Amino acid sequence: MKRTIGILTSGGDSPGMNAAIRAVTRSALLKGFEVYGIYDGYDGLVNGRFERFERESVSDILFRGGTILGTARLPEFVEDAVQNKAIEQMEKVGMDSLIVIGGDGTYRGAGDLCKKGISCIGLPGTIDNDCPGTDYTIGFHTALNTIVECIDKLRDTSASHHRCSVVQVMGNHCGDLALYSAICCGAEIVITPEIGFNEDEVISTLKHFDETRKKRHAIVILSEKITDVDKLAKKISANTSFSGRPTVLGHIQRGGSPVPFDRLLATRMGNYAVELLANGATNRCVGVRHDDMISTPIAQALVQPKRFDLDIYSMFEKLA
Ligand code: F6P
Repeated sequence: MKRTIGILTSGGDSPGMNAAIRAVTRSALLKGFEVYGIYDGYDGLVNGRFERFERESVSDILFRGGTILGTARLPEFVEDAVQNKAIEQMEKVGMDSLIVIGGDGTYRGAGDLCKKGISCIGLPGTIDNDCPGTDYTIGFHTALNTIVECIDKLRDTSASHHRCSVVQVMGNHCGDLALYSAICCGAEIVITPEIGFNEDEVISTLKHFDETRKKRHAIVILSEKITDVDKLAKKISANTSFSGRPTVLGHIQRGGSPVPFDRLLATRMGNYAVELLANGATNRCVGVRHDDMISTPIAQALVQPKRFDLDIYSMFEKLA
């Protein structure tokens, strides 16, 4: 019997999701599967908003940011009745497998459907790089690139005055976007959830940079959800010779055309996900480890803590 795969994107969008949708669709069609594109994540699955995809359905999307399928968060998907409704919708078109692209909430939904007999494979699509089963998530490098471009611009103005730019970046509870951008931008200080925040230390480090190193300007990169960026900038103005200026980069970090790294990663992951399904695998999520495609049981990826690279952090501190 011909197998039918549905594909959906869920949670926050990330650049490269379209490249993954393209790779899944085309690889699956080549293997003889039928493919359905599901709109607006699990919400579209539950409410039967999907359409049959052909090769041309995914033309001209490889380089586009966002997701052509739309995405949503559906907290009710934890409920048994809602999951059963999704399965009823799938049965109507003979859809027996799903490839879901998103973060941990997306994986949780797929894990639940697997328990009910649906074959599911997850792809890590989020700018946060917070999925444990992979070195990099789809979208992380594009977001990093956007942050670096923005901070390069901020540096021009900050350096022209005696200012300290305090830049808040996304990442949810993962400090990778903050740490990697701090290295790429030559920031003076990075504040991440893994290392923790001590306001007095930030002030004394900035004083040290001013008094001993005669820095004319400084950049502090702050992971979101740690402290109030406006208050921190004011505190810097009040307690150091720098004038603090807050910037929240916000959703600009999620947009834009994916960089080649993300296009390649998404394409490899999408292709690999279809191979896994074709070989009878289920309940696994795809990752890249030392440039090889790997897969991990979804349940394991959901409990495993994401590793924060302390060596990279120490290198940042040493060179700042
Ligand atoms: O998970 C991606 C992400 O952009 C996080 O970095 C951020 O905390 C969150 O989503 C923002 O969510 P929303 O788009 O719902 O405001």
